[in-house]
Amino acid sequence: MDKPKLAVSKNSAAALEKAEVRNEGLQGASERRDYPRSVRNWLILGLVLIFVQVVVGGITRLTGSGLSITKWEIVTGSLPPLNETDWLSEFDLYKATPQYEKMNEGMSLGDFKFIYFWEYFHRLWARMMGFAFIIPLAYFMFKGYIDRALGKRLGLVFFAAALTASFGWIMVASGLIERPLVNAYKLSMHLGIAFITFGILLWTTFWTANVKLPALPSPKVRKLVYWTAGVLVVQILLGGMMSGMKAALFYPTWPDLNGETIPAVLFNGANWTFENFVDYDKHPFMAALVQLLHRTTGYLVAGLIAVLAVVGFRENLLGRRWSTALWITLALMIVQVLLGIGTLVLSKGGIIPVSWGVLHQAGALLLLTAVLYDVWLVQSCRSTDLQD
Ligand code: HEM
Repeated sequence: MDKPKLAVSKNSAAALEKAEVRNEGLQGASERRDYPRSVRNWLILGLVLIFVQVVVGGITRLTGSGLSITKWEIVTGSLPPLNETDWLSEFDLYKATPQYEKMNEGMSLGDFKFIYFWEYFHRLWARMMGFAFIIPLAYFMFKGYIDRALGKRLGLVFFAAALTASFGWIMVASGLIERPLVNAYKLSMHLGIAFITFGILLWTTFWTANVKLPALPSPKVRKLVYWTAGVLVVQILLGGMMSGMKAALFYPTWPDLNGETIPAVLFNGANWTFENFVDYDKHPFMAALVQLLHRTTGYLVAGLIAVLAVVGFRENLLGRRWSTALWITLALMIVQVLLGIGTLVLSKGGIIPVSWGVLHQAGALLLLTAVLYDVWLVQSCRSTDLQD
């Protein structure tokens, strides 16, 4: 790996040393203190639990299971139907929904039990996460392991998680009237807030680790990292719209969109109406728009990461930890784009392939993890001493 030119030519060893001292000072000045390993392991466990929850959420959506439970009973809903009579009464409730009437009429009780399972499991996992959060938290507080700074951050995680669950129900409720599917915008919000919850917990986990880097990143690298993170967040929200609108089914071809580079439907000014944005499933307009935006933003994320890798490796001031992070980000980006294309071209006959869709969703979470880690590394040494 090339030794960074700017470090050698413009910044003497003394400047580097000074920067290191400043970096140490920055770490020391923060209110953070060392937390016991058990606290950090608990935070990592929380991340794994959220990751699983997002994957189960993806399976729930792609198997068309999300509207099978028509009530939101936080305590009594912990138990599934335990006998045939209970099952039949749950099934009767589902039979009264527009989804059953318009899409699943004649469904067998066995098939209903299958879709019920995924939605039930998704909700059960959410409850379990609540306990996995609160019980150790109470213990750690009792032991005095949680100081104010960490407590504030955990409060934010808890708030975001409660918001995700509330949006989950708002989303489900939107699919129980008129439309046989949940509202795409609400689905995107539910998914987006779930990703934000994961992001806050991830950031908190990084924060509890006292990362010390050998030097400072150039402003160019920092800008690239922040832009990548920002565009990635937009891309994830657009992804939620893609899945909510089942947009893959309208244009399941690549690299073109059913033979067009930009679908003609988007050039017709008469299609840019409020109704088309609200009633997105009555016209191909929104599917075309969202798909074009998701693809384009996907390429933009890919391009930003590629440039970040080139610049980042060239100015490899941050040492091995940084280059490993860049390699992982680059690899995850390539896999994510391939998974997106695979999901798209395999979406045929009104069905989006469950495994590809779920892997693409999980890939987004892993890519977000990698990019946030890059941001964290860059943030850990904010000083602008070493500029080109
Ligand atoms: C950096 C790149 C990308 C990221 C971070 C990303 C992220 C996402 C996310 C978060 C979703 C929602 C998943 C869900 O709700 O289950 C999604 C859906 C989707 N994405 Fe991407 N995506 C990327 C690139 C692409 C590309 C390049 C394509 C195709 C050319 C693509 C095609 C799709 C399709 C077809 C869906 C809908 C899948 C479904 O209905 O379940 N994505 N994407």
